Amino acid sequence: MKKDLTKMADLSAEEINELLDLAAKLKYERKNGIEHHILKGQSLGMIFQKSSTRTRVSFETGIYQLGGQALFLSPRDLQIGRGEPLEDTARVLSRYLDGIMIRTFAQKEVEDLAKWCTCPVINGLTDYCHPCQILADLLTIREFKGGFNGLKMTYIGDGNNMANSLIVGGLTMGMDVAIACPNAYQPDPTVLEFTKKYPGKFTMTDNILEAAQNSDVLFTDVWASMGQEEEAAERRKVFTGYQINDAVIDVCHKDVMVQHCLPAHRGEEITAEVFEAHANEIFEEAENRLHAQKAVMVKLMKKA
Ligand code: CP
Ligand code: NVA
Repeated sequence: MKKDLTKMADLSAEEINELLDLAAKLKYERKNGIEHHILKGQSLGMIFQKSSTRTRVSFETGIYQLGGQALFLSPRDLQIGRGEPLEDTARVLSRYLDGIMIRTFAQKEVEDLAKWCTCPVINGLTDYCHPCQILADLLTIREFKGGFNGLKMTYIGDGNNMANSLIVGGLTMGMDVAIACPNAYQPDPTVLEFTKKYPGKFTMTDNILEAAQNSDVLFTDVWASMGQEEEAAERRKVFTGYQINDAVIDVCHKDVMVQHCLPAHRGEEITAEVFEAHANEIFEEAENRLHAQKAVMVKLMKKA
């Protein structure tokens, strides 16, 4: 594996499978009271430029369960918030820490941090992508469906960080991937370029029912992401109808599973009824953040 996890495209199918196998093993051990202090004495720095419930708590408890500790580093307190250059911060933090997780706006900031840090850097969400979430999603799909072969995964909504990473992750693992989004809110051009490596496996439309037809896994995400609060009213108009509801479920395979990275806005991208009917799958997905990220930390941070 590469030194860092900055985006899904950093990982091959083989590496993803290795991570999922390790995540499943760590999950089993955790559930059975078997301690696994694989990262004993190690420290993970966590830089958050945006809010978080799942990412923060799962990384913090995850490193603790692995025998290490987490440091929550708010840019309000770090000198970086007062203008200390990223390359200096990176070179200093690398001398104290064994790994850094960062959630921020620009993907370039994560990539610059990774370039200047000698320790591994893990992307905990940017405007461009959300690789840790997608690893948890893939783990959940594998648990519920037994694998990826022959599955159709569909994403309905904004062509945002979730859409970008799901498309890359889904195609890498051999699934058919469909997306329904408004024309002006398509996924990133680099991701659309990536799909060209998988002819016949990717479709994009603005028609929700067409995209959802015969799906095995349905995904959606909020209409306005963090940092887009000022566009929320406009987005509510554009995205009306881009919703997982009973009509969408009806055109999917009978045993379709529904995933949502959370937080969810009931009545917007998903109805309360569909959310509750699939709550078991959605909260397993949330739990799997913990197990998937522990696997990422072990793979990237374990000393030889
Ligand atoms: N899904 C997710 O990343 O949740 P948080 O924003 O709560 O971390
Ligand atoms: N697209 C959402 C995902 C939150 C986990 C956002 O960036 O706010």
